Amino acid sequence: METGSPLATLRAASPVILPSLLLCDFGNLEHEIRAVEEGGAQVLHLDIMDGHFVPNITYGFTIVEAARRITDLPLDVHLMITDPARYVSRFVEAGAALVSVHIEAVPDPRSVLDQIRECGAAAGLVLNPPTPLSAVEAYLVHCDFVLAMTVMPGYGGQEFDATVLPKIRDLRRLLPAEVLIEVDGGINAQTIGTCAAAGAEMFVTGSAVFRTPDYAASLRDLQNLAKSKR
Ligand code: DX5
Ligand code: ZN
Repeated sequence: METGSPLATLRAASPVILPSLLLCDFGNLEHEIRAVEEGGAQVLHLDIMDGHFVPNITYGFTIVEAARRITDLPLDVHLMITDPARYVSRFVEAGAALVSVHIEAVPDPRSVLDQIRECGAAAGLVLNPPTPLSAVEAYLVHCDFVLAMTVMPGYGGQEFDATVLPKIRDLRRLLPAEVLIEVDGGINAQTIGTCAAAGAEMFVTGSAVFRTPDYAASLRDLQNLAKSKR
């Protein structure tokens, strides 16, 4: 893979903090994106929820396209939707450079992952906290990154689930170095270190950035904490 993919850059830059727009002020989207970009963010994480696969509804193509117009940062689109295969190409057209789909939502993970790569984006598989590693093992060779949820998906601001840590360690042992591990949910100054020590390289943060007064300082502190625990 790698053609047109930002994964090699991210690997070199790791640990990478990915602000999740879920908790930003959508009335000031451009200001919010510029603030995290100027604060040193290297990727933006966009949470797509359909009210079916998860109980909450967020936004779709329009916001991804808007983010694409505002910034050149790679967009990491986390699909929490039923039947993601139907929408993958539209999200890549809208500007996604990384696309992840939930193992719990796809009957044929290999074909969706291949589809994401064929569209020119990096392909990620997501596991919810109760989903065992054995559920994804057969598909890891089709992944450019794996996202281990550290909360049940649906809402920002939830408490980190530390029972996921052994799974992150096992994933890091199983995966080749070029396949990055992303964590998402409850990542903050108290929890980022244990995830980094377990082997994660990409850290999604909603409230730990957008619910703080100084985005740049929060991003810098999180990155330093992740760095020091590797
Ligand atoms: C939760 C989303 C997360 C969320 C993280 O379903 O996938 O990306 O925005 O928010 P925090 O960091 O507040 O848990
Ligand atoms: Zn997410």
